[in-house]
This record gives sequence, C-alpha cells and structure tokens, in this order.
Amino acid sequence: KKKVFIENLLAKMTLDEKIGQLNLPSAGDFTTGQAQNSDIGKKIEDGLVGGLFNIKGADKIKAVQKVAVEKSRLKIPLIFGMDVIHGYETNFPIPLGLAASWDMDLIQQSARVAAKEATADGISWTFSPMTDISREPRWGRVSEGSGEDPYLGSEIAKAMVYGYQGKDLSHRNTILACVKHFALYGAPEAGRDYNTVDMSRLRMFNEYFPPYKAAVEAGVGSVMASFNEVDGIPATGNRWLQTEVLRNQWGFDGFIVTDYTGINEMVDHGMGDLQHVSAMSLNAGIDMDMVGEGFLKTLKKSLQEGKVTQASIDLAARRVLEAKYDLGLFDDPYRYGDAKLAAKEVYSLENRNIARNTAAQSMVLMKNENQILPLKKSGTVAVIGPLVNNALNMAGTWSVGANHANSVSLVKGLQDNLGKQVKFLSAKGANIDYSEKLENIYAAHGKLTDRDSRSKEELLKEAISVANQADVVVLAIGESAEMSGESSSRTEIDIPVSQVDLLMELKKTGKPIVVVLFTGRPLALTNMKDIPDAILNVWFPGTEAGNAITDVLFGKVNPSGKLPMTFPRSVGQIPLYYNHKNTGRPLSAEKTEKCEYERFRSNFMDECNTPLYPFGYGLSYTHFNYSDISVSNVNPKGNQTILASVTVTNTGNYDGAEVVQLYIRDIVGSITRPVKELKGFQKIFLKKGESKKVTFNISPEELKFYNHSLEYNWEAGDFDIMIGTDSEQVKTVKINWNK
Ligand code: IFM
Repeated sequence: KKKVFIENLLAKMTLDEKIGQLNLPSAGDFTTGQAQNSDIGKKIEDGLVGGLFNIKGADKIKAVQKVAVEKSRLKIPLIFGMDVIHGYETNFPIPLGLAASWDMDLIQQSARVAAKEATADGISWTFSPMTDISREPRWGRVSEGSGEDPYLGSEIAKAMVYGYQGKDLSHRNTILACVKHFALYGAPEAGRDYNTVDMSRLRMFNEYFPPYKAAVEAGVGSVMASFNEVDGIPATGNRWLQTEVLRNQWGFDGFIVTDYTGINEMVDHGMGDLQHVSAMSLNAGIDMDMVGEGFLKTLKKSLQEGKVTQASIDLAARRVLEAKYDLGLFDDPYRYGDAKLAAKEVYSLENRNIARNTAAQSMVLMKNENQILPLKKSGTVAVIGPLVNNALNMAGTWSVGANHANSVSLVKGLQDNLGKQVKFLSAKGANIDYSEKLENIYAAHGKLTDRDSRSKEELLKEAISVANQADVVVLAIGESAEMSGESSSRTEIDIPVSQVDLLMELKKTGKPIVVVLFTGRPLALTNMKDIPDAILNVWFPGTEAGNAITDVLFGKVNPSGKLPMTFPRSVGQIPLYYNHKNTGRPLSAEKTEKCEYERFRSNFMDECNTPLYPFGYGLSYTHFNYSDISVSNVNPKGNQTILASVTVTNTGNYDGAEVVQLYIRDIVGSITRPVKELKGFQKIFLKKGESKKVTFNISPEELKFYNHSLEYNWEAGDFDIMIGTDSEQVKTVKINWNK
C-alpha cells in the first residue's frame, strides 16, 4: 500500500516539487516561527519545502502545516523536527549523565517521555540520539553522547530509538528518531569541534561504528551526516560511508539528512563549488539538505548537465515521503500537535517525577570520605557556589524545548524538600569565571545572566561567614551549561580558578565540604579532589535538578551512577580510555598502579598512565563485595554458550543498586586487541546484607571483532573473563575457547 501510494504521488510531482521534499529550512527562531524567514511560507506554498525545524508550539506548527496541506499544489504535509535531545520541556540529565545511569529502562523511558511531550506539541522528528563515541573530553559535545564505550553506547542507542519510535511510528505520541552524527564526529583532532578526523577502518568498525549500527538495527528512521571528513572525504559527500556501509552493509532504509549547512561546508573543505558538492552529496546517499539549500539551488542544473540522475532525485524524494507516510502524516497531517493535549502532557507532574528519579540515578559519587554523605536531616547546611541558585544552568546543553526558568535550582530543591528540618544558608561565593575571551562571547549572546557584580573578595567574605554558621558546606561548582556542548571545546578541562579558590578558602573554615559537581564532560580534578570530603558528580541534571540532588545528598536515593567516560588526571593524557591496546612496551601492572616511570616503556615522565577515575567507576553509600568468578566451562568449543557468575553482597549499611560489569580480553589475535572490552552489565538492587548471584551468558558473539580484512568473526584461543564494579577493580578467570 505504501509503495503504491508513494509511486502515485511521485508520478504527479514536478522535478521542483521532488527537490522541494529534500529541502529542510530552519524556521529561524523557534519562538517566532516563520517571522525571521519570511520567504519560507511562499516556498511551502510552492512545494519547495519538505520539512521545517526550530519551530515550537502546537498551534504555530498547525498553522504552518495548514499552508502546506491547503495551499501547496499536491498538499504534501511537512515533517517538523527539533533537537529534543534529553527531554522536551521536562528536561532529563544531559545524555552523558543519562549514560551514567547504566539503566536502559530509565533511558528508554526518558526518550518515551520526550516523545510524548514533543509530539503533543507538534514535533514529529527528533535529531536524537547522538551516538558519537568520544575519547575526547576537550570536545564539548561529549555531553551529548554516551561516552567512550561502543558496547554501552550501542545499548543506549537502542534504548533511545525504542523509546522515541515505540512499536508503531504512526501513533500520535511516537516520534521519528535520527541517529547522528554519521560518522566519527566524536574524534576531532585535539577535541576542537568540527576539526579533521583521521582514523583507520579497523578502529571505525571495531570502536566507533557499533552504536550507529545498533541504532540502525533498532529500526531508526533517519540518520544525520556529520560535519567532519572520514577518510579524506567529508561525511556528507562520502559515498562509501552513506551508501556502502550504512545502506548496503547495514541495510539502513530510512532517509539521511545533512547537518546544518553540511553540504555548503564542503566548499570550505575544498571539495568544489556548491553545485559540485550538492551533486556529490546526493550521489553519496544524502536525501535531505538541512538549511543550506544546495539541493534547491543546484540539483536541477546538475540533472540537466548529467551530474545527477533523475533516479537519484526520485529515490531521495521517495525516502522522505516514506518517512512521512510511516509517521501517518498522509492520513492526518495534524496528527502531531494538539494544544489541549500539550497542556496536559507537557511538563506534567508525572513526567517531572520520572525526570527527578532519572536525574538521581545518573549521579556519580566520586568520593565520600568518612561517610560524610548522606547528610543528616538536621542542623545547619551552608549551600555555597555559583551554581546553587542558578535555575538557568540546570538543564545543560541542547535543551531547546526547555523553559529554563522552571528548572529547580539546588537551593530551591533543598528548601522545598527539607526546609522544615534543616536550616539552609546560602551564598554565591564566586562567579563561574569563564576566561575573558569566553566571557565576552557569552556576554555578546546575553548569556551571563547570573554574573554577580560584587568583587571576588566580597563574594568570598559572605561565603566564609555563611560557612562558619553551618555544620557542613555543600559547595556547588563546576562548569556552566555553556561550557560544554556544541562549539565548546576547551584546552584546559579543570574547574575555573575562581571556584577552586573558593573551595580552598572554605577549607580553612574547617567545616566538612561536600562538592556538588556540575559538568558536561570529564574534568581533570587532580588539583582539587583531595580538598573536599565528598564529591557528587551531578552532570547537568535537568528540570528537576534541585529535587534530585536533594534526594541523593540526604539519602533518599543511594547513588549508583557509574562513569561512562574516563576522567583523566591531566589534559596531557588525552585520549585516555580503558579499552586501549597493550602496545609492545607496556608498563608493568605494578608500576602502572604505583605510577612509577620506566625508561623505554610506554609511559610519561611527568604523569601516571592511570586515570583519576576510570571508566565504570562510581561509589555508593553502601559497599558491595564481589566473590570470585565461577565459569560453567573453562574450555568451551564452537558455538557454545558458557555462564560466568559472581555473587555480589551488600555489606554496607544502606540498600543500594550496583552496576555489575563484564569485561573480556582476547589475549592473542590476528590483529592487536584491547586490554579489555565491556561485553555486558547488569544493574542490580541489593538490600542491606543481601547477596545476589549475577550470571552473564557468554557466547562467541561476545568474542567477535572486525579483522584486518574487515570480516566480523571470532578467533579461537585464550581469553580473560573479568567481572567487577568498574573497569579497573575486577575479578579475573582465564578460559580457552576452541573452534
Ligand atoms: O541536530 C543539530 C546538530 O546536532 C548540530 N547542528 C544543528 C543540528 C540541528 O539543530
């Protein structure tokens, strides 16, 4: 039925109308709708627009859709996109924080809530999930991804796609997902956004491609091309990438959209003029052109000159129309967006409660000396720092749908929840303190709305006086939301100096200090980590920030988040990741642990090889004890499945959740193999004193990798099976697997 419908429609379409379906303009400012791009209305009437993004509000979207279905010749509905990245108006933790929950049900649920809210408000397409693997904390967009690991990233990619798209894409509360940025956007040289990427195909297939592939396998309906080059050719115009790998090898049958002016930027990449790069992109497999209008302006000419074929244009138009068909837009162009429903669905108490729990589950306890946390629900608490009373910074990057003023600040959360039992005193203590350069840039964009005009000394004085009146200091410091995200690369990834100074001064009061760390990336915390008694990494927790942080600080929720990305000791170590290769001159395990330098070994003269906090790391208020691993068969053969089990016991004083992690090392391979790779995890909940046996099924599937000929298979031999609480603290057992 779909095929016939689309064929009939295509048969009626002019060339211009077909090219029009490939055109995705931005509505300008999403609050003013079309106002800033006044010719868009006319283009829609002329059938020259396939979809629109950056427009918010059910009624506004309905009005624009009305133009398409009532005034354009063929009445083809538009698709409406938006960056619904970590929630819509109910904002969830930034994706890196979501990943830290290691809870696939929660992550899927967060995407479901986002889909329900966004669709009620008229959006039918989200530019999410971002599944770019990254080992680059200097790159600001690590905040938008799932971190460094291909396995965890793949599980999350699937959960997000299922959450967004549901079982039936045509249902009015499911939304078309878009996996991005294909491919390798997370590996820019020096972490500088949009910079060159150069990577071996082995690394692409084994380490960076798996999450995109997982999204495709989960049925993602669209893919966004990345800005960077892949193997010397910008991804947008890279036929090998878009057609050979994505479509032919992985079987992707949805449509591919460029990133914002991705085609035009190929001119600056040095690939030719706009006509050439537009033709190149279409021929590579791109279907929709975001913003740049390269297709609209040049494809007709390229067809006349034989640079593209009618069949390629038809195919691209067909793919866009098919997505609209799958969304049910031809049955009912107004299916998405209902102001009354939006008033009920969007930012509902139910959704906010889900966001609150998700945020609490995403927090990572990095340090907790003398069990200072959880705090007692009595006495006086000084709540200090530039981020304590700062609703605007709670949602973090890429939260275009959010109403930031609604976010619950830390002070508000504490006061609302425990104001009757605990006396909270607050002070700003310091400004976030960007560099002067950043400050000017942000000021020009009107971003520094929370800057305090008092001098550093005045702010400090107030903070010390407040701390002196309290039993304990909760110090909220770190990055502002603007310091990570797109176009927010940093060469130094520490906490700005004004805030570290504040910490040092507060230390002199002798009060216990709990740092609540806001960040969109792994930070190098080496210089400050010994000062506070506890560090709770809350990322950017979203709308419910203050409530969720209160829940964790005071023990309503026992933290169970685990780092999805390594925290280095210093920038000089980057890239630093747990699943590295051994090299021919590894430093011994003992020396690595002791941070001892050895000449002519792979190590630094001035820095350890180990991270400050490894991948998978995160403490709890309780303690979990791991038994040795028992394996059902240490000499398996062929396609058998073996069982590897540990018994985990909660030996501490609180009920709590633990993420039990399975790693495997392939000792000898036809290509060099990583020292360990995550191959499974289970998040379990244990009551105080309770034990649980956790079992992982391991089959040759878990042993497969792409070999030198890029064939995906496993090789017989010795393997280390490791299970533990993070990527460093593991129990190990050796097995030998024969063909
Ligand atoms: O979806 C985004 C992308 O991640 C970065 N460039 C702009 C797109 C649309 O807003």
